[in-house]
Amino acid sequence: MTLRTTAKSLARQVTPWALRFVNRGMRYPPYDSAAAEEVKTSVDKVRLATIALALRTIDLENIDGAMAELGVYRGELSRVLHRLSPARTLYLFDTFAGFQDGADARFRDTSAELVRRSVGGDHTKVQIKEGYFPSTAEGLEDERFAFVMLDGDRYDVTLAGLRFFMPRLVKGGYLFAHDFNNPESDRGVSKAFAEYFGASKPYVEIPDRWGSVVLRCA
Ligand SMILES: C[S@@+](CC[C@H](N)C(=O)[O-])C[C@H]1O[C@@H](n2cnc3c(N)ncnc32)[C@H](O)[C@@H]1O
Repeated sequence: MTLRTTAKSLARQVTPWALRFVNRGMRYPPYDSAAAEEVKTSVDKVRLATIALALRTIDLENIDGAMAELGVYRGELSRVLHRLSPARTLYLFDTFAGFQDGADARFRDTSAELVRRSVGGDHTKVQIKEGYFPSTAEGLEDERFAFVMLDGDRYDVTLAGLRFFMPRLVKGGYLFAHDFNNPESDRGVSKAFAEYFGASKPYVEIPDRWGSVVLRCA
């Protein structure tokens, strides 16, 4: 074995240990163990990891503002939002009886009470707004939001969500929309985005399971 090959073989053995030392204290993604635990068990890890990073960023940057989820169903995401950011007020908007028309029977097997129990938190931090959005947003005109999730599936509710939340999203705040790239509901989510934003398109598509988009308020 020449000196050169000995040096190469030594470098191969030492490099992983050296990198471990250099990277000590650095971990990516950098969210905490509660978030890592939620991501690990989620059916949509990419979506949840992206949300967890956004929540960590608004906390680290001391960005004030409430959180909102429009389209809650049984509160699976709501529970995680409250767990990862318990100090922020979380508004949860849903009919808790599915869609208004009878064409689609999904999302009826829930209730505000079921969500209240699964999310936990007191009534000041977790505020359930039961009924048809946007009428359930009445009285919240002066509220400001640092995190918004639009997940109402359809064109009308998504457009109403953009019209209500966008002017109230604080600088540095995040707005996500689920199902942007989902052909369901006649591509209602992407149509609502096109209607609201026109050519400006300030959002980024993320490669999660149902094709979400995210934007950060400049
Ligand atoms: C896909 S589910 C939400 C899933 C939930 N975000 C999650 O991650 O588990 C869509 C929900 O939007 C609600 N929804 C649709 N249109 C609505 C409206 N105009 N007002 C209130 N809720 C609405 C439905 O009742 C349904 O529960």
